[in-house]
Amino acid sequence: MPEATTSRVVIDLDVPGPTISRHLYGHFAEHLGRCIYGGFYVGADSPIPNEGGIRRDVVDALRALDIPNLRWPGGCFADEYHWKDGIGPKADRPSMVNTHWGNVEENNHFGTHEFMALCELLGAAPYVNGNVGSGTVREMSEWVEYLTRDGDSPMVRQRKANGRDEPWKVPFWGIGNEAWGCGGNQRAEAYADQARQYATFLKDHGDNKLYRIAAGAADDDLAWTEALLKAVSCLGCDRGPKNIFQAISFHYYTVAGSWENKGSATEFDLESYYRTISKAQDIDRVIRAHSSLMDAYDPDRKIGLVLDEWGTWWDVEPGTNPGFLYQQNAMRDALVAGLHFDIFHRHADRLVMANIAQTVNVLQAMLLTDDSDTGGGLVKTPTYHVFEMNKGHHDAVAVPTHVVEGPAPYQLDGKPTELMSASASVKDGRVLVSVSNLDPVAALDVVLDLRGGAVRDPAGRLLTASKPQAFNTVAEPGAVAPVQLEVEPEPRGFRVTLPPHSFATVSSAY
Ligand code: AHR
Repeated sequence: MPEATTSRVVIDLDVPGPTISRHLYGHFAEHLGRCIYGGFYVGADSPIPNEGGIRRDVVDALRALDIPNLRWPGGCFADEYHWKDGIGPKADRPSMVNTHWGNVEENNHFGTHEFMALCELLGAAPYVNGNVGSGTVREMSEWVEYLTRDGDSPMVRQRKANGRDEPWKVPFWGIGNEAWGCGGNQRAEAYADQARQYATFLKDHGDNKLYRIAAGAADDDLAWTEALLKAVSCLGCDRGPKNIFQAISFHYYTVAGSWENKGSATEFDLESYYRTISKAQDIDRVIRAHSSLMDAYDPDRKIGLVLDEWGTWWDVEPGTNPGFLYQQNAMRDALVAGLHFDIFHRHADRLVMANIAQTVNVLQAMLLTDDSDTGGGLVKTPTYHVFEMNKGHHDAVAVPTHVVEGPAPYQLDGKPTELMSASASVKDGRVLVSVSNLDPVAALDVVLDLRGGAVRDPAGRLLTASKPQAFNTVAEPGAVAPVQLEVEPEPRGFRVTLPPHSFATVSSAY
């Protein structure tokens, strides 16, 4: 192994930045492959231990992540989902075909009440994504009423008849999904008008204040974002809509190859590794571009930017249904997650929510389950561990973090790819630093130069593996799992040694 290089990260503990909303650690669960059925939900008669059909082991594992919110039922599925088919006695619920994902039959056994029960078990705020593409304004407006209204009304009577007297709190509402594509192949201005119309009829019932999220761009499609900004901000208008929706979303996936040939999650060479890191780093440019445009229309930052789908997207595992998007998850995926969070923390003044795609068995999952009747069992992925190790950043205050001496960037197609990443936050008299060594071959000595406070009692944790391709299985669940990291004192902070392709956290009192 090449000799370790030494880097220095300067962190200003006494220069408070924006608060890192816990919702940047949000999740996404779609009716897609084995995310809902088999992943979260096995039905009450399953031999797999469950509560009302919801897997106990999955809930227990996810509770350790303090999931702040869960987006459901899609994705593309949201725009063909009709919520009234998913309430009432299961035997009476009509089936449908899930045309986007595998053309399989959807029996609607996991519906509104089951989703709300799942959120309650997880302690997560619900983020419901409504159907614009094939639904109606009335349908979405009645869904809001069904879920959130108290007292007496047609929808409330139906909810009560289905066993729930009290309204739920459902703050987050998505107005369609990827309206430029699977959500209706709309043009930006046409969708912007439609989003205004839908948002008008999504009412705040009682004290349930809605946070309406307009379906946004793919990647850096700024023209889409601008059309939505024009629709909501009504610049130069005396009269006109104000705050019709509270946020605009966008989606960004780390696809290192092409959409036709995305590459394997676990069998890859160094070239693919660097491409992945480079693609993940580019989210910084994309967020910056959307944020600057938003600053022009909304200088007071009243409108939030929501990244409600992100993560790695590989070829499906050999032998699995191509429509189910089931992929393994290696140490490389964990580094992509750590990198995203460092970047999210830097943009926390505009980026208010992010949802990884998806929580169980789909794309960059936290958990992979075995849902065979005989076994059950589940695997925590390397990505899971990054979410867990970074929990201390939830609702903490970001502090400036500068890599002042870092390893030389790797040149890929004439573009620099940084081989180190870091971010830090403070909360309740403690600092939490996250730091990644993205070099796949060389170790890195890192001095954490913590200024503006006297730090003491550090604790370090390290996530790494024998190679970036390493992953966890039922047979070897701990191949990639956090271990203790030795932290040496320095005159003004700490020193740690990070092996190649590793993610670490250091926390301390100050
Ligand atoms: O997460 C999988 C799919 O990716 C979602 O359904 C869609 O919104 C996106 O294209």
